[in-house]
Amino acid sequence: MSTSIDDLMASVDAPLIVVTTSAEGERAGCLVGFHSQASIDPQRYCFWLSKANHTYRVALRSDRFAVHFLTSADRDLARHFGAVSGSDTDKFSGLDLTVTEEGVPLLADLPNRLLVDRVTMLDDGGDHACLTARVVAVGGEGNFTALRPSQLGNLTPGHGSEERAIHP
Ligand SMILES: Cc1cc2nc3c(=O)[nH]c(=O)nc-3n(C[C@H](O)[C@H](O)[C@H](O)COP(=O)(O)O)c2cc1C
Repeated sequence: MSTSIDDLMASVDAPLIVVTTSAEGERAGCLVGFHSQASIDPQRYCFWLSKANHTYRVALRSDRFAVHFLTSADRDLARHFGAVSGSDTDKFSGLDLTVTEEGVPLLADLPNRLLVDRVTMLDDGGDHACLTARVVAVGGEGNFTALRPSQLGNLTPGHGSEERAIHP
């Protein structure tokens, strides 16, 4: 075989989402490419968070998350959530938000979204941890064209995955 997993995944070009959450008043959110529906009945959704990210550190202490689906019109928000880190700055400052009872920030510009509750977080020793979650609410405005990495161009992540605190 002459190809690499990076080449294969570039062809798959899987859609991008923004996951947000909060814990003890601390808000967090980042661009996520690793995610999928994972059960039909009961409804489950999974996403993977890089252990290097501020969002992961907040997620360790939170139970509720918002999964926002990006459309091809949302490149700027994708760049913001993918290239800036909440370690250094409040990523939500200046954005149009509502906040759920549990404190989860909902991005007004991204109405196609799920609210999910953690079932468990799986750490298999990789540089991302998998959060499996039950779907508690679904919002949307009908059909949309998903934003894909090929539409974003090169983006340097706010944290590289190699920046995680503990290496196996
Ligand atoms: C195309 C792309 C896909 C990404 N996919 C993920 C992902 O699946 N999970 C993740 O935790 N971070 C992913 N990232 C990286 C984070 O979005 C990025 O490091 C972000 O700045 C972290 O923000 P935070 O430190 O505030 O959590 C991706 C970045 C890009 C550019």
